[in-house]
Amino acid sequence: MCGIFAYLNYLIAKDRKTIVDTLVSGLARLEYRGYDSAGIAIDGETTEEVYIYKQVGKVAALKKYISEQQCDFGKEFVSHCGMAHTRWATHGEPSPTNSHPHRSDPNNEFTVVHNGIITNYKELKTVLENRGYTFESETDTEAVAKLAKYVYDTQTKDNQNLSFTALVKAVIKELEGAFALIFKSVHYPNEIVATRRGSPLLVGVKTEKKLKVDFVDVEFGAEEKVPPPGPVNLLAPPNADAHPKLRRSQSRAFLSEDGLPQPIEFFLASDPSAIIEHTKRVLYLEDDDIGHISDGELHIHRLRRDDGISAVRSIQTLEIELAEIMKGSFDHFMQKEIFEQPESVVNTMRGRVNFETHKVTLGGLKAYLATIRRCRRIVFCACGTSYHSCVATRAIFEELTEIPVSVELASDFLDRKTPIFRDDVCVFVSQSGETADTILALRYSLERGALCLGITNTVGSTISRETHCGVHINAGPEIGVASTKAYTSQFIALVMMAIQLSEDRSSMTQRRNDIIDELHKLSDNIRTVLKLDKELKKLANDVLYKEKSLLIMGRGFQNATCLEGALKIKEVSYMHSEGILAGELKHGPLALIDENMPVILIMTKDSLYPKVQSALQQVTARKGQPIIICNEDDEGISNQYKTIRIPQTVDCLQGLLTIIPLQLLSYHLAVLHGVDVDFPRNLAKSVTVE
Ligand code: F6R
Repeated sequence: MCGIFAYLNYLIAKDRKTIVDTLVSGLARLEYRGYDSAGIAIDGETTEEVYIYKQVGKVAALKKYISEQQCDFGKEFVSHCGMAHTRWATHGEPSPTNSHPHRSDPNNEFTVVHNGIITNYKELKTVLENRGYTFESETDTEAVAKLAKYVYDTQTKDNQNLSFTALVKAVIKELEGAFALIFKSVHYPNEIVATRRGSPLLVGVKTEKKLKVDFVDVEFGAEEKVPPPGPVNLLAPPNADAHPKLRRSQSRAFLSEDGLPQPIEFFLASDPSAIIEHTKRVLYLEDDDIGHISDGELHIHRLRRDDGISAVRSIQTLEIELAEIMKGSFDHFMQKEIFEQPESVVNTMRGRVNFETHKVTLGGLKAYLATIRRCRRIVFCACGTSYHSCVATRAIFEELTEIPVSVELASDFLDRKTPIFRDDVCVFVSQSGETADTILALRYSLERGALCLGITNTVGSTISRETHCGVHINAGPEIGVASTKAYTSQFIALVMMAIQLSEDRSSMTQRRNDIIDELHKLSDNIRTVLKLDKELKKLANDVLYKEKSLLIMGRGFQNATCLEGALKIKEVSYMHSEGILAGELKHGPLALIDENMPVILIMTKDSLYPKVQSALQQVTARKGQPIIICNEDDEGISNQYKTIRIPQTVDCLQGLLTIIPLQLLSYHLAVLHGVDVDFPRNLAKSVTVE
């Protein structure tokens, strides 16, 4: 997740200092979406040159950097277009070069800010490099800026006209993946083009007078009546065909009620938090909308005709306040992040899992696959929730790859001075990539010559830099101290890795295909489980809130859910909770069971179901009254029990669904206990001390 912001004024004199301040304060509002680096692009001495300022770190670091440049920002512009970006790295570590805005060339002819992931950027980059374009960053976005210049150069070389909208249309036809993009160009001064597919983008409108209309008509036709520049089709020779002048299309201008053009400001952003301090009037762009702002007007074009999308975008009035927006409709970041999981799991798989061919490709591991397949054993090493993602996936990893896997707590790994050898592969899993214990375990393994892989959510973090290779989980920034969406994304990253490693084992083809089919349904299944929220809130309130302790039991693939669910409950509700492997019940924990001990039993349909049934009997024989997490259609579970019913999926992915009710339950218990949910006492998001 990143934050993008842009500003354009028309008929309103603004000095550049004010414009820079507007951009920087917009970014500060979006910082919760990503904060590893930030940048802005503004007009230079004239609107035909562009200055770019970028800095690693938070927006405050960018602000300081700009002020240190001692630029003369006194010059006024009656129309100016500036853009800004705060980054959560997905491709390339945080560095000034990898920060946005990205540019097409050293003269900054085209500048682009982007939120999302362009999955085919490597192909685009190769083709553009073959045509003489030199890339300076490791990002996917730079390919978009270079592609814009390529389209411009090829389509206008015989003095043909090409509108900014037509140019962007040609660019986005080539893009795969998810994006919200804003383009600025010295060739189209005082114009901005913004478009989206899968990532959010909205436009705020600020005027003194009332607008004549409160909607914008989508323009399906005007530009299609003349030959469009056509798809860039980079694999074909550049298209030098003449391109007739485009007609000015008819659209609703932002005239005031008296019918005259009026001074106006536009604010574009990933979410309303960066807009609301300026205006409450906003218009949301739809997927494949191409919004063009120029001469005080906003025109919206569609990439394709007749795609069944409404032809009108209304200007809405935001009724909410700033604090609410950052968290959306949620009260806390933890709650927001739990509800983001239908999207974050898709982002983890985006461009990596092909659901048609049943293939997984993790680019970061490609060069190391043969070495990993030859290794003696794989060691997973992590702390807390990240450790639980390793526990959750160990069995399927061993089953698919037939490589022995051990799972280590990073602190214990060092205390024990675990023997590590050159033919070991060590996988370090960490949301932050900065956990001290995990970093020390990594350095210890590097010294012993093991191949070290990182699985992190933070590009450019110590773990992603110091490992030989790895996978970024792309879950977006996690703000709540209690990890939720990172857990499900780490889980998926490890499963994807196991699938890719096992692709040379034909005996596993069916198993792999089944898992990939279920990964395809995962987002919808998570949505279904999230619908239980009200039920779980009631359960927390009516049954569990006053309790001192809660045992969570299960076995096999559900062991990790028990451990992770208990950790969530402890850390955010301060209630004692323990995850218990049901097979161990009779070896001790059974002594805790009586009619007063709250128990949650995870009893989903897999090969261990009969064994969990006997755990149920052991508990009920001691008058225990467990709450059962089971599959929707399990009629074998009597109505005497309280049940939490969730969709069934393949055994090794079921833990991605069983954890969600426990995340929600811990959240509601925390709220009932009056805990500062996002910042529970004594805990930190990133534990950078041993
Ligand atoms: C629990 C939690 C912690 C972290 C642990 C490791 O909700 O967030 O247990 O999982 O501190 O942190 P990372 O994954 O950043 O290495």
